[in-house]
Amino acid sequence: MGAFKLAPSILSADFANLGKAVQDAERGGADYIHVDVMDGRFVPNITFGAQIVKALRAKTKLPLDLHLMIVEPENHVNEFARAGADSITVHAEACSDISNTVDKIKKAGVNAGVAISPDTEFSAIKGIITQIDLILVMSVYPGFPGQAFIPQSLNKLSEIRKHLDAERLKAELEVDGGINKDTISSVVEAGATIVVAGSAIFNEHETVEEAIDKLRSRLNDNN
Ligand code: DX5
Ligand code: ZN
Repeated sequence: MGAFKLAPSILSADFANLGKAVQDAERGGADYIHVDVMDGRFVPNITFGAQIVKALRAKTKLPLDLHLMIVEPENHVNEFARAGADSITVHAEACSDISNTVDKIKKAGVNAGVAISPDTEFSAIKGIITQIDLILVMSVYPGFPGQAFIPQSLNKLSEIRKHLDAERLKAELEVDGGINKDTISSVVEAGATIVVAGSAIFNEHETVEEAIDKLRSRLNDNN
């Protein structure tokens, strides 16, 4: 099983204490902070804007992995890059011209990612795969934390992993949604290199550090 990086999603953290949440995640050994930006249009909820990203930037050295669940993401790329994002991922379904949007992200000096929702096939982004740094496979329908992992996502991950390896492409393969101690091994086995987890890391039952240790050890056990 390959190495993987863990990206806690602060969507399930205490919104009144986001500074503490990112610091707990950093201390607990997270590799990224996953920031779910929602606009109330692409998905029903509204979450964080660029000012919050800027405030988080000052609280952690970890790379900020932005997941934009917003319409017309190209209009917001520059402000999120300026706020301190390290990577910006846009939804294929939200872009009128993915290639242009990806260019804009790269010109802003950050890594470019493209996300696909469960009903979007890999073929929708295959043509631009050599231009991007990260592919995000949604393993739940975007919008809410705590949903059940959609098992068909494993086929999509394997298909993309095969393609990346065959073409010798180094893009990260990220998976987001329903990851917990029972599902983490299967996504890493299918070829994911970055694993997002929200409710499995920020919850009432354990500290962030304990939750991260539990996810990592689950994987080691199965090695
Ligand atoms: C959902 C978000 C996810 C969310 C995952 O739309 O993109 O990042 O935080 O939450 P869990 O890990 O609880 O499924
Ligand atoms: Zn996300």
